[in-house]
Order: sequence, then structure tokens, then C-alpha cells
Amino acid sequence: MARLSVDFSGLSLRNPVLSASGTFGHGVEMQHMVDFSRVGGLVSKTVTLKPRPGNPLPRICETEAGFLNSIGLENRGIEAYLRDVVPAVAAADTVVITNIGGEKVEDFVELARLLDSQPAISALEVNLSCPNVQEGKLPFATDPQMAARVIERVRGATSKPVFAKLSPNVSRISDLAVAVEAAGAHGITAVNTVLGMKVDWRTGQPGLHTVQGGYSGTAIKPIALRCAWECARSVRIPVIGCGGVMCATDILEFMAVGCSAVQVGTASFGDPGLIGRLEQELNSLLEGAGIGDVRQLIGSIRVPGAATAKPACSTVPVPASGR
Ligand code: FUM
Repeated sequence: MARLSVDFSGLSLRNPVLSASGTFGHGVEMQHMVDFSRVGGLVSKTVTLKPRPGNPLPRICETEAGFLNSIGLENRGIEAYLRDVVPAVAAADTVVITNIGGEKVEDFVELARLLDSQPAISALEVNLSCPNVQEGKLPFATDPQMAARVIERVRGATSKPVFAKLSPNVSRISDLAVAVEAAGAHGITAVNTVLGMKVDWRTGQPGLHTVQGGYSGTAIKPIALRCAWECARSVRIPVIGCGGVMCATDILEFMAVGCSAVQVGTASFGDPGLIGRLEQELNSLLEGAGIGDVRQLIGSIRVPGAATAKPACSTVPVPASGR
């Protein structure tokens, strides 16, 4: 067996596979389909202070490759999450990360404060980047100062590790990565969905009520990979890759560009059991390549002209071989 466990920012994951927020419920809903002892961790659907009904229908539609969503952060609010979900996830044999969202800085701060006393929650992922609220303006995801302000205040409200989930819908994601690192983020999740839309030319009908929404699935992997790489080479804090991951090969590609762990999102809609099988697939790939430790891959990309690869955030040095 190859070693698959990864440690970063105070988290110890048995393997680098995490569910992506919004694609796996809060995790507990899926326990009849997945053996959580085969999963690195679960990231919840975004939780907000108050319950949200979400956006009007249609709020999800298929495209030629992948799909668009504009759910609008539907959830039952923090009170219901603490009452109904946290006790259930506490029994899950894996790491649990809560994704939090808000419309103003104080919303994030209050959520962080309320979750801080919950031992079942290992870390917070701060959703700076939902494209389906606030008219798609992405205020926290596009302005480095606003992103930093949220992270700085959340850090002040919790002792748990704080991960900033960034958006690909910016011209220079590294500016955001550097800003949240300076504000105290323990890590970065790169990335949320890509803004997109669909229309029927015969009827003029958009695919989504909100017209534009978040595009996800295998087609966005090259975009997500590039964003994750830009983040990883710009900061010292760990990066969690996300976007278009469908199989173990995709996970190892994200690790090669510098990610310490990787989230599986849209793929779970078609195959909810996938996330529980990836551990075995990762092991087969690594064994086949003669690599004994998945951490050897972190940051192992060979950039033409660069003297050395960026040292991985993990403590394991990148070897000259085994890439
Ligand atoms: O609309 C939604 O609930 C999506 C959230 C997200 O992409 O962060």
C-alpha cells in the first residue's frame, strides 16, 4: 500500500480526497452509499446564519459538458445545522469541514463564532466565491481587500483552521491568494465554479432563472488546475484543489501542481459512491508508478526553465524521481 495520508494546517486526512461543498449534502445524507472510513474528509454545503430558500427554479441545467447551477445557497441556517447535522456528522469516521457563507463580513464572523465550540468540526471553509448570490457580483471573491477582511475577522472568531474558497472568475487569482494568506488563512481552496450560461435560441429561454450561474464538471478542470497552480506558487499555505475532478488521475494532477488535498464535486452527482472508491484507485496508480507516498507528488510539476519545483507545503521533500 502506498501511503495516502496527508497532514496540513492542523488537519490529518487519511487520504487527500474530500467532498466539495454543495455536491454531497452535508455528508451525512450519503452515509448509506459511501464508507466514510475511505474518505479523507467531508465539506458541508454552505451554511448561512439564517435559512435561505435559494433561487427560483430552474436553478440547475445540463450543458454539453458538465452543468450549470444557481442554487442560491439554499440551506436551513446555522441553528438547524448545529441542532440536526453536527450531532450526526460527529459520528462520521472522517474529518468534517463546515463551509460558511454570508452577505456581509459580520455574517461570516458570527458563523465562525458559533462553530468554534463544536469539536466535531475540524475546520472552516469560507465561501468567498458563490457566483449565485448578490447578483453574481462576487464582492468577496474579486476584491482582495474585502476577501482579506473576511478572513482576518473569521480568524479572530475561531481557533479552527480557516480555508478561503476562491473564485476562478478573476483576472489574477494569485492576488486573492496572497491577500488571504496575509490575512491569516491556513489554506486556500481553489476553485469554485466558473461563471456560465445557457440559452435556447428558439424560445429565447435561459437555462437558469438567474440566467447566469456556476459551471462545473470535467470541462473546467484545466481552468481549475491553472488556478490551483497559480495559488500554490504564490503562497506558502496549503492549497486544496477543486474543479472537474472525476477520477484518481485528476487528483494526482492537482497534487502535482501543488495541492495538498483535492475535492470531488460534480462527479458525485453522477456517481455518489465514487468518492469512497478513489482511495483504492489512488493506491493502484501510485503502486503502478512505484511511488510509496502520495506526498511526494505535491508540487512535483516540472516547469520548463524553473530551477526547482516549489517546495511542497507538506514536510516531505520532492524527490528527483517518481514524477
Ligand atoms: O448557488 C449555490 O448554492 C452555489 C454555491 C457555490 O458555488 O458556492
